[in-house]
Formats: sequence, C-alpha cells, structure tokens
Amino acid sequence: MRYTVDFLVVGSGIAGLSFALRVAAHGKVCLLTKGDASEGSTRYAQGGIAAVMYDSDSFDKHIQDTLIAGDGICDREVVEMTIREAPDRIRELVQYGVDFDLDGKRGRFDLHREGGHSEFRILHHKDNTGEEIERALLEAARRHPNIEIREHQFAIDLITQHHLGQWVTRHTPGIECYGVYALDCQTNRIDTYLSKVTLLATGGMGNVYSTTTTPLLSTGDGVAMVHRARGVLADLEFTQFHPTSLYNPSEKPAFLITEAMRGAGAVLKDRDGNEFMQKYDPRLSLAPRDIVARAIDNEMKLSGRDYLYLDARSIGSRHLIEGFPTIYAKCLSIGIDITRDMIPIRPAMHYQCGGIKVDRRGASSIRHLYAAGECACTGLHGGNRLASNSLLEAVVYAHNAAEAATAEVQNISFRHDVPDWNAEGMVFNEEMVLITQTKKELQEIMWNYVGIVRSDLRLQRAFDRLNLIYRETEDLYNRSVLTEPLSELRNLIACAYLIIKMARARRQNVGLHYSLDLLPSHPEKTPQA
Ligand code: FAD
Ligand code: SIN
Repeated sequence: MRYTVDFLVVGSGIAGLSFALRVAAHGKVCLLTKGDASEGSTRYAQGGIAAVMYDSDSFDKHIQDTLIAGDGICDREVVEMTIREAPDRIRELVQYGVDFDLDGKRGRFDLHREGGHSEFRILHHKDNTGEEIERALLEAARRHPNIEIREHQFAIDLITQHHLGQWVTRHTPGIECYGVYALDCQTNRIDTYLSKVTLLATGGMGNVYSTTTTPLLSTGDGVAMVHRARGVLADLEFTQFHPTSLYNPSEKPAFLITEAMRGAGAVLKDRDGNEFMQKYDPRLSLAPRDIVARAIDNEMKLSGRDYLYLDARSIGSRHLIEGFPTIYAKCLSIGIDITRDMIPIRPAMHYQCGGIKVDRRGASSIRHLYAAGECACTGLHGGNRLASNSLLEAVVYAHNAAEAATAEVQNISFRHDVPDWNAEGMVFNEEMVLITQTKKELQEIMWNYVGIVRSDLRLQRAFDRLNLIYRETEDLYNRSVLTEPLSELRNLIACAYLIIKMARARRQNVGLHYSLDLLPSHPEKTPQA
C-alpha cells in the first residue's frame, strides 16, 4: 500500500504525541507506532518532569544543575532555552489534561527533588507521572480529527535519494527524507509512506544492554535508520545507567526505583547495612547519576555482590504508601515491604543521552526530517542527563520542531517517483533462535565490556565480537523476509556499533563515559575496581 500524508510521525510517546497535537492544525498527521500506542518509555516514567515554576527556585539554578550534571560539555544556549521554555510547556501539558499533584495547602504543584537538583522542582503525579502524561496526550490525539494513529506499524527505513537510485554517502550534501517504509506487523506487508515532513520520536535503545529499565521496544530504531540513511549522530558514548533498579533478576525490563525516593530521604547502603556514598561524593546518595551508578558498581565489584540496598524506611510508612504507591505495591508483590525492609537494587541501562543530532528547531542533518525525545541529541544533556530533564526536553523539542515543520510544509512536494519495497527472492526465516540468541549475545557483550566502567581492551573486545554478530546478521537479513525481530536486531547491532565507536573516540573521562585507561576528569571520583 502507498500512503501520502503531510506530517508523518514515528512514535507515540511524549515526543511524538506532543508534536502531532501541535502540527495537526496545519495538515493531516499520520502517527505510526510499532506496538500498542500507549507502550514506550514515557508511560513508565516515575519521578516526573523538571521545571522552575515558582520564585523560590530560579532558572539560573536549574541551568547550573544541568550544566554541572552534564560535566561541562552541555550546549549552554540549548540548556538556557530549554529551561526557560519549561513553564510554558508545563502549562500546555496541563491544558491537555495532565494532572500533576498539588501540595494540598496553597494549591501549588507539589515538587519533588532528585539527584543533582539543588531545589525541589520535579512536577509529578505520585510515582507514575509518565502514565498520566501518556494517558492525557493519547486521549487528546485520539480526539483530534486530523490525527490518525496506526498501531503495530514498524518503521524500517527512511526513504531518501538512495531509493531513487542515487549514490548517497555521509558527505552527500542535501540528503532529503521523502517518508518511510513500514512493516505492517499484522499482515507482514511493507507499505510506503510518503510525507512532506517526518518526525522521528522512536525513544531509546536500552535493549542494547542485558539489564535495562526501558521497555522491550526500546531498540534504537530511529538512530539506526538515520545511521543507514547517512545522517549525523552524536554523543552515543554517554549511556546513562540508573543507579537503582529493583534487583529481581528474572524480570525484564528491570523495575525502576525512582530517584525521588532518595530525594525524600532514602539512602544507599551496602549488604551490611552501612552507608558508603561518603567515600565518593559530598552530595552522598543525591549526587548526579553517573557518580552514584559508578559508586554502586565499584562497591558491588569490591564485595563481589550482585546487589546493594536502598533504605527508604526513614521516610515513614504513610509517606511511602501514599507517595510511592506503585513502588510499594510492586515490592510487596515480591515479598519486600519497603516500610520495613531495605530494597535490593542494582544499576540498569536507563537512558541514551546521544542520538540523532538536531539543531534548536529539532531539525536533523537530513532535510525535512526532525527528531525529538530520547532518540534526539540536542546538546541539553552533555555528558550526563540531569534527572527528569528528559520529559522536559521531549516537550520543548516537539514544540520547536512543530513550529519549524509547519513553517516549511507548504513548500514541500511529495516524491511520487519513490519505488515500493522490493522483497523479491526472500524466504521466511523459521529459525527464530538465530535472532533471539544473537540478541542475548549482543546484550551480554555490551553489559560486560561497554558498561559503567570501560577500558581500551574491553572496547576492542566488544568491537571484535560485534563484528562477527554483524556479519552473521547481515547475511540473514539479505536472505530473509523482513520481520520485526530481525529488524530490531539489526538496529540494536547498529546502535551497539555506534556506542563502541564513539566510546573509543572519546579520549577523556567525561560524564557517563568512564574508562580505566583514560585520565580521570575528577580524580576524587575514580573507582578502584
Ligand atoms: P518513548 O516514550 O519511548 O516512545 C517511543 C515510541 O516510538 C513508542 O511509541 C514506540 O512504539 C515507537 N517506536 C520505536 N521504534 C519504532 C519503529 N521502528 N516504528 C514505529 N514506532 C516505533 N525521564 C524523565 O524526565 N523523568 C522521569 O521520571 C523518567 N522516568 C523514567 C522511568 C523509566 C522506567 C524509564 C525507562 C525512563 C524514564 N525517563 C524519565 C526517561 C523518559 O521516560 C524517556 O526518555 C521519554 O519518555 C522518552 O520519550 P519518547 O517520546 O522519546 O519515547
Ligand atoms: C527516576 O524517577 O528516578 C527517573 C527520573 C529520570 O530518569 O529522569
């Protein structure tokens, strides 16, 4: 089938939905999403969204906190712009029906605090903020007559001049996006979507690693598509590991224990019940994520243990049960009463700071292609994202991209000469084990060699192992009818390759990138194991 649409959006998380709602007044919007529309990282966000809403806080403080967490390599102008725009974007979310908790006394927003924040500034809905945001935006998008949401449609590749028979390299000037090819997962047909403007909002790539808090569909598809289309990507060495995922080894994805719990008073402890963060940072359990995750990793390696503890008991039963109902219920379901027991935790891959390089309008290096949300690299996060700045970045850049896209859409024509997908000569691959086993191998390689602490040797080893996996998988791809699992595997391999390549190129320890072979940018943070 062939479709033509003014605005094509890939992804139905906070970024894709926010963009769709804003451009819908200017043309027909088709939103493709590979699972159920509500599935994605957004709905699992717990802590909330950071914004300066009252005079007790200031833009300058939020800017400083973001720059410090980013370890000196954030784009300062982007930080300032994003943080100053935050209150307007929050008001829009409220208009769409997002119900942020109020403090009950003055009718103001109830604000939480998280690691790296010098003030209480996280707007939230109990401990399930993302679910509330996703609900409100999805309901608004479903009501809009100009937005069509198409579920279980898997975007495979961007359509560019390459598909018109032209030779496209990373140095080709003026690469253009004419839409995407997408697999209809229910019929296995590959459709052609021609668009004037395309937005990638495909979320993260957590499943490159074996332990991640991100949902199973976070497989870096947008980043891989732009890589294949020869677009510009950046900062992928900055993989963020969340310090506290619930240690429950059989569970995938790993369940998150929000940092807001540490903001409310919970502290990290070793297996003997002793605090240890004083060895690493004066901000203790509320230091930025890179520092806390490395400290936990180091303590685990020194003691040979698979997990440590978060002790939330000092917060008090009532506050824990009423303020963190999702975490309380989850832990209770596996026999942990957080009002009485310490919570076993370990770090997990949580967020990708890098991605598709975009300018302040959300425009990528490929013409008519925008990106927003976790798949984009705006410069806001630098070497390490400050907690709860991700949902904020997604709404700010969805807004900016929508403004830019609506300004250009009238001047763009469809490319009707684009051919349909050619699947001639392909056979169905019945050996699913080839895909599932390769995916597991990849995730273990990345966890063991490209994790919280890296080294030249580990990166080289990962690169060599990945090469073999890459060749085997490309061989399979060239012979097989394309399926969602095979396409996801290729995308994960492409993302892993890019992470390793950029990690090897970064010759200084900055933010989340830490190698035993490089000079520490902050000697006091050096792990021993
Ligand atoms: P997502 O919400 O992940 O949505 C991606 C969408 O793209 C999905 O609809 C998916 O189906 C679709 N998609 C992907 N590939 C394809 C394809 N090939 N074809 C079609 N569709 C595709 N950040 C904060 O700021 N505050 C928090 O409190 C917070 N808590 C978090 C808690 C957890 C457990 C996790 C995992 C993350 C958390 N984050 C938080 C990070 C934040 O939630 C995400 O970065 C953000 O929600 C990403 O939004 P998004 O719209 O970019 O992507
Ligand atoms: C959390 O609630 O700890 C996650 C916040 C984030 O990832 O920004």
